[in-house]
Amino acid sequence: MDFDVFQEATICALMRLAESRERSTGAHIERTSSLCKLMCELICEAGIHQEEVDRTYVDGMSLVSPLHDIGKVGIPDDILLKPGKLSDEEFEVMKTHVDIGLTTLNSITEIIPEDYLLNLGIDVIKYHHEKWDGRGYPVGLKATEIPLAGRIMAIVDVYEALRSERCYKEAFSHDRSCDIIVEDKGTHFDPQLVDLFITKHEDFEQVYDSPKVNTQQ
Ligand SMILES: [Fe+2]
Repeated sequence: MDFDVFQEATICALMRLAESRERSTGAHIERTSSLCKLMCELICEAGIHQEEVDRTYVDGMSLVSPLHDIGKVGIPDDILLKPGKLSDEEFEVMKTHVDIGLTTLNSITEIIPEDYLLNLGIDVIKYHHEKWDGRGYPVGLKATEIPLAGRIMAIVDVYEALRSERCYKEAFSHDRSCDIIVEDKGTHFDPQLVDLFITKHEDFEQVYDSPKVNTQQ
């Protein structure tokens, strides 16, 4: 399925808007998209989730994945850009980025309710902070109750965040990031996806270090 040029342009505009708040660079968008595409391609190659993951899904996830934190546009600067650990109260505010993002995309579904990309975008926003053991937010879904798009987004988002310097942390090495992801296998992350990630971890490292390499169709 070819996606509408207008859809792609709208997604791109939303991503740039979100990105401007965190004062990061365009590399963040490229990396998230490329890492997500790589993860989806590995799922295809492994022959798992065949009922859901086809070429359209891979391309769709590649497009919408950078929207996962779009709701951060609504988080106050003193929390979003705080150079340190958030207090419990501040973390509660930060968690609302999921609902803010959902409200944004849901307002579009009132106009175009059955749009494939839009619904995929809603899944990555809504479920990217859910955890395999049920201790995530906003719903606290467990294991395969969490839609696959959320489970994929969780691992890609954390790997990208670990490798990157943020206002509250230094950049971690690829090896240290892999260790953290393996430690959280079966608690935070879908164990099957962690296994795929580790099998091809050098590919994730390469995509992170040269984000434009795998963005070509
Ligand atoms: Fe998030």
